[in-house]
Amino acid sequence: MKLTKAISIIIAGMLPIIAAAKELPTIHVVPYPQSVEFQKGTFKVNGAAMNCDPALDADSRAAVNKFASQLSLVTGKVSSFATPTGVGSVAAKGLAKGFVFYKDASVPEEGYSIIVTSKSVAVAVSDFHGTLYAIQTLKQMLPEEVFGKKPAPDKAWKLPCIEIKDQPRYGYRGMHLDCSRHFFSVKEVKKYLDVMAFYKMNRFHWHLTDDQGWRIEIKQYPELTQVGAYRDGTMIKKDWNSNDGVRYGGYYTQEQIKDVIAYAAKLGITIIPEIDLPGHMVAALASYPWLGCKDQEYSVWTRWGISKDVLCVGKESTFEFLQNVLTEVAELFPSEYIHIGGDECPRTAWEQCELCQAKIKELGIVGDEHASAEARLQNYVTSRLQSYLANLGKKIIGWDEILEGELAEGATVMSWRGTKGGIQAANAGFDVVMTPTTYCYLDYYQCEEKDDEPLAIGGYLPVSKCYSCDPSEGMSEEVAKHILGLQANLWTEYIATNEHLEYMLLPRMIAISEAQWCELKNKDFDRFKTSLEAKHFGILGIMGYNYCKKIQ
Ligand code: ACM
Ligand code: ZN
Repeated sequence: MKLTKAISIIIAGMLPIIAAAKELPTIHVVPYPQSVEFQKGTFKVNGAAMNCDPALDADSRAAVNKFASQLSLVTGKVSSFATPTGVGSVAAKGLAKGFVFYKDASVPEEGYSIIVTSKSVAVAVSDFHGTLYAIQTLKQMLPEEVFGKKPAPDKAWKLPCIEIKDQPRYGYRGMHLDCSRHFFSVKEVKKYLDVMAFYKMNRFHWHLTDDQGWRIEIKQYPELTQVGAYRDGTMIKKDWNSNDGVRYGGYYTQEQIKDVIAYAAKLGITIIPEIDLPGHMVAALASYPWLGCKDQEYSVWTRWGISKDVLCVGKESTFEFLQNVLTEVAELFPSEYIHIGGDECPRTAWEQCELCQAKIKELGIVGDEHASAEARLQNYVTSRLQSYLANLGKKIIGWDEILEGELAEGATVMSWRGTKGGIQAANAGFDVVMTPTTYCYLDYYQCEEKDDEPLAIGGYLPVSKCYSCDPSEGMSEEVAKHILGLQANLWTEYIATNEHLEYMLLPRMIAISEAQWCELKNKDFDRFKTSLEAKHFGILGIMGYNYCKKIQ
């Protein structure tokens, strides 16, 4: 053998060793934890005992028990579940065996720490959210079959020895869904909540009313759902004057809503209902025409866009209606917030309405260079409902149009027309949830080759752009304290099926989850993209979600 050949054989033989030595350990956890330190060795998961501190709340204990059952199923070996007294102090001293979930009040809200050694997995949390999120992280470090419904005993059921300390950057991590333009069943809404919880999101903004359909049963006003929940057809694609002639609709009963609220609570998700007012109210006008400014009948809208027909706020009967509706909504939803919409309300009908003009006079409202009298009339509506809801123990949140004129103290602003409104609101001391179209509107196209995509509303919002969102960009620490968090919105004018909905949602929602959770220094689009391709697309497949495979 020639020397050069011998050398090349030796080098070739060493390549895997060199590569292995260079290969950094990885975990495909998304959103990526704030602090990760790899150690040597592994922990054997199959058959490991699952211990849970009895000091943890009942929901946490139930979640840990469910995790043990899932591990038993997929690994084919029983992971027993027990709540031995004193297990927390044993774990805190590093002396635990098997899995130990324990309470540690010093762990930040919604946070957790995980220490994996070859003998134990010690998980410290201070609340239910922390427990849920620690379990999600552990599952994401295991073979993706952990998300399946059948045994996979041949998989490598091991965890790497590791130390993770994690907590969210923002407390408000939301997703919105428009169930008015198209209606999604309880089962579909629950599936939406499942994937949100999987990516550690905790607020579901449920858009329940709009011009094209009223979707929530209100006992005192049955026609809202008998009439307002159905439309006589839907415009076809972008042909504004067309109508497919197919009657379309649906709504959620209060019993169904209670069921969804309870389901979400188990996932650590609070549901914020939206009753969009005083615009986007044609479905209500069709149900009760006396709510409008004009003496006429109205029909539930069959086309998209912004209707000039809005609630007449010159009549006390309109306020009585709104207060009665909001009372039922407030009784149903435990959320501290009720979303009262406020967006895209053309005030032209008010300019021409005697009653609305009389109200402006009665209230002594005058327009100026900052805001018209009608804009200030909308402020009056907002603040009157804000006071009403405050008496019911609720806070209001509204789209950034509620800032036009003067907003009453205590309201929270959802900034959708870019971040400008949110920055202005935060500077003025209001709390803000960022949801700018530029990063968060998942009804936009996600791929540049639009002709290959299902019809969308327009725009171009690739995964990478969603990922790059920094909700507090350019703000001082003091102002940034008012940024409660980030939310992505899914408007459904052009989304008629659940399969299409999931395609628009995923994986952009997952990118948003890192913008909500990760400190800026921990964001890395290449790492995120690798994790999607190496692991998360597989998990989504096992869990039965449709998703876009192109990452742009
Ligand atoms: C909105 O997108 N109209 C809030
Ligand atoms: Zn009016």
